[in-house]
Amino acid sequence: MAGQIPRPFIDDLLARTDIVELIDLRVPLKKAGKNYTACCPFHSEKSPSFTVSADKQFYHCFGCGAHGNAISFMMAFEQLEFVEAIEELAKIHHVEVPREAGHKAKAYVQGTADDYSQMQKAAQSYQQQLSQHSHATAYVAKRGLSAVTIEKYGIGYAPDSWDLLLKQLGANKVSRDQLFELKLTNRNENGREYDFFRDRIMFPIRDKRGRVIGFGGRVLGDGTPKYLNSPETRLFHKGRELYGLYEARQQQDRLDRLLVVEGYMDVVALSEQGISFAVACLGTATTSDHMQTMFRFCRKVICCYDGDRAGRDAAWRALQSALPQLKDGVELNFVFLPDGEDPDSLVQKEGKAAFLARLDQAMPLSNYLFDHLLQELDVSSDAGKSGLWVKANEMIATIPSEFYRELLQEKLANLVGRARNPNTKNSAGKASVTPVKTSKITPMRRAVALLLQYPQLAKVMPHAPELAQANLPGVALLLAIQQHLIEKPQLTTAQLLEYWRELPEYNILSKLALWDHQVAEEQLTQEFLDTFRSIEDQYLQQRLESLQRKDQLSKLSVAERHEYAMLLKAFKSK
Ligand code: UTP
Ligand code: MN
Repeated sequence: MAGQIPRPFIDDLLARTDIVELIDLRVPLKKAGKNYTACCPFHSEKSPSFTVSADKQFYHCFGCGAHGNAISFMMAFEQLEFVEAIEELAKIHHVEVPREAGHKAKAYVQGTADDYSQMQKAAQSYQQQLSQHSHATAYVAKRGLSAVTIEKYGIGYAPDSWDLLLKQLGANKVSRDQLFELKLTNRNENGREYDFFRDRIMFPIRDKRGRVIGFGGRVLGDGTPKYLNSPETRLFHKGRELYGLYEARQQQDRLDRLLVVEGYMDVVALSEQGISFAVACLGTATTSDHMQTMFRFCRKVICCYDGDRAGRDAAWRALQSALPQLKDGVELNFVFLPDGEDPDSLVQKEGKAAFLARLDQAMPLSNYLFDHLLQELDVSSDAGKSGLWVKANEMIATIPSEFYRELLQEKLANLVGRARNPNTKNSAGKASVTPVKTSKITPMRRAVALLLQYPQLAKVMPHAPELAQANLPGVALLLAIQQHLIEKPQLTTAQLLEYWRELPEYNILSKLALWDHQVAEEQLTQEFLDTFRSIEDQYLQQRLESLQRKDQLSKLSVAERHEYAMLLKAFKSK
């Protein structure tokens, strides 16, 4: 996949990007000596072991081992594919991502780019239709939506027509197949095609980057289904996306809280009232993936589901899927609405200030967890106590945050009147403190590590192409890094590593890039040259032995005899 974007472009993109700035916008960093630190966004911790190096343009967590360059960070943090991460960085710098011609993967990428523009065109068509149908305009007005909100969320109307999109976007067989695959149209048994959404108010669902990937469509009256949603397609995966997240992030660079509600209408009605940090899951329960996504973008999540039985069930399910995502420093609260109300109806009734006050009084997760369990179990009996003990400990064990585990165990112990269970360790985050091991440091690894970490060493590194014949693991890698640096002396550690992302050596290289060599700054050049010489010696030793063997078996050529004599002399003098 990497082949389709020209390598020099990737080099250039990494050169333009300052990883400190990039990460700081998402995870506020503190300066600590030469580097910057923060609590790791990729695992749960109380004291910062996440380090960003401006020199190397590289990040590394000493706690969980997460590491990489700006591209890796975007992939991990924003949950993007490689190509998407490149596109995202390109967008930051306002540059177009060029594509190499004649590559096989190209057609696919272009195909999908086209998918997005097709979805965008459909959204635009629905938006235009809205103003042209007075009963649709009247409906959104009745729901209290102003032009600003309609525009912000791109709300539209799919008219009562079998072939509006078909006619507008399905000029030929290829585009009609595409419409069908994107589920903008449907086909009956006879193969007849027709628009998927008809006579519905349309809510475009945008991904984290603002691209339309699906739609939700509401009937104007009481028909069923009330909401028709795009089925899963190659662009649209419900369990991961959150309606309104893109719009919320557009509004505020750093979100200080996110409110999860149940419906599209709740999101837009809250925004209409000036509460622009609400998101909704797409007609599904709130999954662990949703929780993870939200905690990535902000530390505080408030669940606010409808004040009915279904809403309360949704809240309990949300709590359960949130537990494995509870890292230190995050906060999860719950708001319970009066029976029969949803955020839309309530905010319209009582206004912004009163609604915000509810959020401020939200119930912390630790209270809700026990409140709920205590409703089901009677702890005045021993059976009830033991039931609570088992159930709560089971749930607590799924939490990665030590803080939350201890807090909840404390509460549990009080409730059942016994000392807290010392064995409830976190089951999810066990692997969270594996220090980066750099297995045996051979001279070769030392040389590769130093050159990677200090690319300027390439200037003093002797030119020794004959080493390529040496039977020494890693020598090809060392020479390849040297070659890259001869061609481009300005490459940073991060840029160098990028050349190997898709290759098997990437893992060892990224470990070596982080290896703590403990060599004083002023000793670096000497250390590197000494290491390089010891590699050369290994090679010469090999060469000497092979000439010795050959000498015993057959005759050496004149040149070989000469080399043999030189090598013998060299080794004797050592
Ligand atoms: P609600 O029934 O609570 O709808 O469904 P709502 O958001 O309050 O909408 P209004 O106020 O009646 O217009 C909540 C969410 O569940 C999904 C939709 O995502 C909806 O926003 N849902 C609901 C469906 O997918 N299909 C349905 O038939 C109903
Ligand atoms: Mn509603």
